Amino acid sequence: MSGTGRIGEISEDAIHRLVDTFYGKIRRDPELAPIFHRAIPGDWEPHLATMRAFWSSVMLTSGRYKGNPMIKHIRLEGMQPQLFTRWLALFGEACEELFEPEIGEAFRIRAARIAESLKLGLFYKPGQSWPPAVA
Ligand code: HEM
Repeated sequence: MSGTGRIGEISEDAIHRLVDTFYGKIRRDPELAPIFHRAIPGDWEPHLATMRAFWSSVMLTSGRYKGNPMIKHIRLEGMQPQLFTRWLALFGEACEELFEPEIGEAFRIRAARIAESLKLGLFYKPGQSWPPAVA
């Protein structure tokens, strides 16, 4: 925890630190790293810049992100519904390390909702039970 405590104090700087910390964890994670390294074989900076813009749009309604996350994730090789649990666990760790609980919780709630909608969009098949039996 490092001083960022109240919801109104969420700043571009806080988002910058969160994105750096979270993707540092992703790159060291045995389950998630291979998927990311296939999609981003070279310089990570453009992806990190996109993710800062994304979180700025989500948390600060800055409108900085213009893109379609669903389409990007459809194309990823090796994507599985249960990997969202791992993704959210690492995101939660990063939030806990950087922010006081109220701020961390605000990020985690948004991430969990977006993860659920991505998971539905990617894996839901009409007529099958939800969540999938494997997840
Ligand atoms: C299993 C979980 C996930 C995996 C493996 C994953 C993987 C990736 C990868 C590899 C990219 C880069 C794609 C590319 O540049 O070609 C990407 C982009 C992105 N991801 Fe995820 N992701 C996951 C979950 C999430 C979640 C839960 C969110 C939001 C809360 C999210 C938001 C985004 C966004 C906004 C982009 C940028 C899309 C763009 O370029 O416009 N991802 N993801």
